[in-house]
Amino acid sequence: QLRGMKLIKNNDLPPGIKIDIVEEVLRGRVGSFLNVGGLDDKMTLQTIAVNESPAGIPLIFAQDVIHGFKTTFPVPLAEAASWDLEAIKRSAEIAAREASSSGVMWTFAPMVDISWDARMGRVVEGAGEDPYLGSQIAVARVTGFQGDDLADSHTILACAKHFAGYGQVLAGRDYNQTRISKRFLHDYILPPFKAANDAGVATVMNGFNDFDGVPVSASKYLLRDVLKGEWGFEGFTVSDWNSFAEMINWRYAENRKHAAELAIKAGSDVDMISLVTIENLEALVREGSVAESMLDDAVRRILKLKFKLGLFDDPYHYFTEGLEEQVVFAPEHLQHARTLAANSMVLLKNQQELLPLNKGQYTNIAVIGPKDADSLSLLGAWQAAWNTDGLVPFTEGIANAFSNSKVTYAVGVDGDPVKNKTEEEKALALAKDSDLIILTLGEGFWFAGENTSLVDPKLPDNQVALAKKIKALGKPVVVVLATGRPLVFPWVRENFATILLSWLPGTEAGNALADVLTGEINPSGKLPITFPHHVGQAPISYLFKETGRPDTDKGNVTRYLDAPNRPAYAFGFGLSYTQFKYGPISLSSSKMRPDDTITATITVSNVGKYDGAEVVQLYIRDEFASVTRPVKELKGFEKVFLKKGSSTSITFEITEEQLKFFNQDLQYVSEPGEFSIEIGPSSDTTASVSFKMTSE
Ligand code: NOJ
Repeated sequence: QLRGMKLIKNNDLPPGIKIDIVEEVLRGRVGSFLNVGGLDDKMTLQTIAVNESPAGIPLIFAQDVIHGFKTTFPVPLAEAASWDLEAIKRSAEIAAREASSSGVMWTFAPMVDISWDARMGRVVEGAGEDPYLGSQIAVARVTGFQGDDLADSHTILACAKHFAGYGQVLAGRDYNQTRISKRFLHDYILPPFKAANDAGVATVMNGFNDFDGVPVSASKYLLRDVLKGEWGFEGFTVSDWNSFAEMINWRYAENRKHAAELAIKAGSDVDMISLVTIENLEALVREGSVAESMLDDAVRRILKLKFKLGLFDDPYHYFTEGLEEQVVFAPEHLQHARTLAANSMVLLKNQQELLPLNKGQYTNIAVIGPKDADSLSLLGAWQAAWNTDGLVPFTEGIANAFSNSKVTYAVGVDGDPVKNKTEEEKALALAKDSDLIILTLGEGFWFAGENTSLVDPKLPDNQVALAKKIKALGKPVVVVLATGRPLVFPWVRENFATILLSWLPGTEAGNALADVLTGEINPSGKLPITFPHHVGQAPISYLFKETGRPDTDKGNVTRYLDAPNRPAYAFGFGLSYTQFKYGPISLSSSKMRPDDTITATITVSNVGKYDGAEVVQLYIRDEFASVTRPVKELKGFEKVFLKKGSSTSITFEITEEQLKFFNQDLQYVSEPGEFSIEIGPSSDTTASVSFKMTSE
């Protein structure tokens, strides 16, 4: 066995490990690592920890495995657009399987932050704007990563982040303060965390933001009262990166020692990298500023999960030589990445029914646009490998599918990331020769992820300029919008008849796109986040409140002078190649007592020309309440596949639970009164029936 002391003496360390790190492990001052390269390095450090550190406690190895490890799935926001919980769970399961084969035992995912703001590029990592959908997806991801048994070498610890409010940073500027009320927190921010907790999430990460005047790493209210108190969370919490020390910049902690004291007292357990706790906790406990029981509690939580991971039975069970090569990019993983990417795509416009494309019809297809050149961006932010191994770019996928056509590619724009001025001419020449243009637009790799806030999240000007020239050619054009956040693109939206939102689809990008273009897969994605008409509408959500002066009234009503209130594309929106018809809603009863269950049933028919899947969405509106309520809230959905010409009847159960909200005393209650129900293909639906809930 490798021995730390010997390694140091002989200076025989693997290239990924530095001497001072080994010394820290030998002294027992490290409990977990983040981003340690391969299996060998992890094995070396684990051996030293187990055999030579004072207590012999095994280490945990962590990494941000966010949407796949080597097989990269669509970015999380895109996956959310599939509204397919089983498929999302499976993607997390595969990510865990691949990551664990490289010795990773803990991922910093899922991000369950609810955000209403396209300015914040970090929305790419969440599940969008809605707490109900967000909660369902949080559960799918947590159970996918963690499986049924954490001691299984193929499952890893999940981490719900960022607790709490990070998705609501003021003005959409990453790391900024928040200005949300406790009500907003409870109504919209906490539900996915609560759902993750109820699903057994092992760990929870704090955020960089503050809440109600307190940096959340030091929020006793959030960590001790809500998470560990009211919800009974049994795992451990971790800072986000340097967030403990950053409390000094917030001018909330006086110095590093104070930061450590504030963090542990509030219920923070693990310090990701700031080191303020390892430097100061012993002294804080000895001098009586921090109760020893608090330290014990944090340690107990961490040890418990190390036991659950099976590390005390076998600290090496995650390290199987040769397994990674067998597991990563396994055919079934790639197949899932392809199907999920296709099922995440959202058809925004198909006015002339150009799609699906007839494979035999085109002799010369020109793929134009910056996406394939900026190929990392097709994988999206957060990759385990930072390379494009295995990636099928758009053009390659299209060429595979249209094997009898000539398929050519040109980047077209001379801005970032490609600097060549002649590119536009080349692209226009190819486009002129073609009988079909696939125009792939979207922001560059560095524009959707952490720290990518924009005041103006629009399609870059040079791409719009190119789009205008392409349009002028008068050829059939499919616009493919590859973005990780809602973009504002009025000219393109108004001037092209065919727009497909591909998001950032991951490893199988090209094949998935081709599947959708050819109709192999009929698009069924629905937006999990509103696409604004103008950035000035941010923050925007379908969960708005009517106000005392609704914009349906005349005169001085809540509206803009220079833009509509409506978004460009509403939450839940997405077209199909086929058409679905919704019948009337039939309610099992127009009255319900709090302990009753009533049902709402609707017939959905596929009346179009293709087989296809539809996400049938249930919205409930509280007509009158003791606090102001949103116009409607998503309370159920079902994704159904319907052959052309067929119908199905879908029944949603309605119970008191779906009618509850936080009252003025922040108690989660239902109130008797009238509720309306809408069932439809998006949040932009009105046909409704209503029922009354009685008090008993
Ligand atoms: C900072 C990010 O906010 C967080 O989500 C991530 O897990 C950590 N860095 C670790 O990489």
